[in-house]
Amino acid sequence: MSARVPPGPGGDPLIGCLREYSRDPLGFVVRCHEEYGDVVRVPFPAFPASYFLFRPEHIEHVLVRNHRNFTKSADARRALEFLGSGLLTAERDSWLRQRRLIQPAFHRERINSYASTMVEYAEQMLSTWRDGEVRNVHADMMDLTFRIVARALFSADVSGEADEVADALGVIMQVFAAGGNWLTFIFPEWLPIPRNLRFHAAERRLDEVVYRIIERRRREGDSGDLLSTLLRVRDEHGAGMNDEQVRDEVMTLALAGHETTAIALTWTWYLLAQHPEVEAKLLRELDEVLGEGSPTAGDVPRLRYTDMVIKESVRLYPPAWAQGREAVGDCEIGGYHIPAGSQLFVFQYVTHRDRRYYSHPERFDPGRWASEGTGGLPRYAYFPFGGGPRMCIGSSFATMEATLLLATIARRFHMDLVPGQKIGLEPSITLRPKHGIQVHLRRRAARTAREEGALRARPAG
Ligand code: HEM
Repeated sequence: MSARVPPGPGGDPLIGCLREYSRDPLGFVVRCHEEYGDVVRVPFPAFPASYFLFRPEHIEHVLVRNHRNFTKSADARRALEFLGSGLLTAERDSWLRQRRLIQPAFHRERINSYASTMVEYAEQMLSTWRDGEVRNVHADMMDLTFRIVARALFSADVSGEADEVADALGVIMQVFAAGGNWLTFIFPEWLPIPRNLRFHAAERRLDEVVYRIIERRRREGDSGDLLSTLLRVRDEHGAGMNDEQVRDEVMTLALAGHETTAIALTWTWYLLAQHPEVEAKLLRELDEVLGEGSPTAGDVPRLRYTDMVIKESVRLYPPAWAQGREAVGDCEIGGYHIPAGSQLFVFQYVTHRDRRYYSHPERFDPGRWASEGTGGLPRYAYFPFGGGPRMCIGSSFATMEATLLLATIARRFHMDLVPGQKIGLEPSITLRPKHGIQVHLRRRAARTAREEGALRARPAG
């Protein structure tokens, strides 16, 4: 095996590059790629070594081909500890059993059955929006996608409790968002500092409400929602999940199932507001495919340009912007020796913007996804949902949801960015807009959406 060590920054003898990373995670990662190449060794405290990987074939090696040699990284395990051994965090046999048990809940026909809820909730939200008002569209998308996943998980009868879950999850996500600095590496989560106390109080509230819902559902029986599926499924030995496992999966799906899709939509509104020619084309497609009606699951495969708009937005602003793994045994990547215990990181945010794979990578150009333009793209040059056995279980749910919500909302309102606001990136577990995104709403007259879009369009090129 090769003994070569990859290049990389030196860093402080005690804390390595932690301070530089914490100050500006995205900037640091991008600089590492630019300065040191495709495999970069980065010193962080407490681990034998960390490596950043940027090449599609190396990403594929870790996520897919050699996945048995990797577990989730130590920082991912720690950040998501409160999810117990839910699908995101479980490993090995316990993960495989859970994945097999849950997979049927994500089959196409099950997912299609949520389409009308998605559109109905979007329409409910729109009925509260007013022409001319200013809104934080990130907060609205978070609220909307949370209500949709809560309904899919628990059906309608727990809407009050769903609010409690949303509040507690909100606190937990705030702690994460504020936690991307080097202090969080140094202070363990059991220390009674304010951040940890708030986190644990929210965790206790979440437990309380979720166990209450589970207990009631076991008593009252099936309601045709995801929770009922979790309570009903059996493995090959006839064993189901105990309450703790159900709790872990409910938390996992509530968290993983709304924040990412909300972020994908938020960045899409941000990009559309700056690209009227794309918006006009999108509106033309919506008019042609949907006529006067609301979108349904059956329309989704025909909304090809809508899908390209989302794909392109997720390329530029991948909601899951990075994933980490820990090497169980020694391995070799790109001719370099990677010792057991190393932490390996792959970054959608960087690889999705690599000019070796995308022409004008910084440009928002949904047209690049018309099939002829992407034939030569290496498989893992685009991987918003990860890859291999740990790939996102909710990718079809998310894709359908994003398409239906974009279609429903874009036909009713145009959004202008409020001038002068600071748009920052907040790379915690997801890639949030740091200060939200303030938009100025302009209601469209339904019949004139197409004409209005055409008028607003600037000739491309
Ligand atoms: C645009 C939206 C979404 C994006 C970009 C996204 C992205 C991802 C990524 C990258 C992973 C792999 C993590 C890793 O390998 O470490 C993942 C896993 C996962 N996602 Fe998603 N996700 C989205 C929506 C959803 C939705 C809607 C749900 C559920 C309703 C969901 C549930 C999960 C679960 C449970 C896992 C863990 C799967 C496993 O390890 O078996 N995600 N997601």
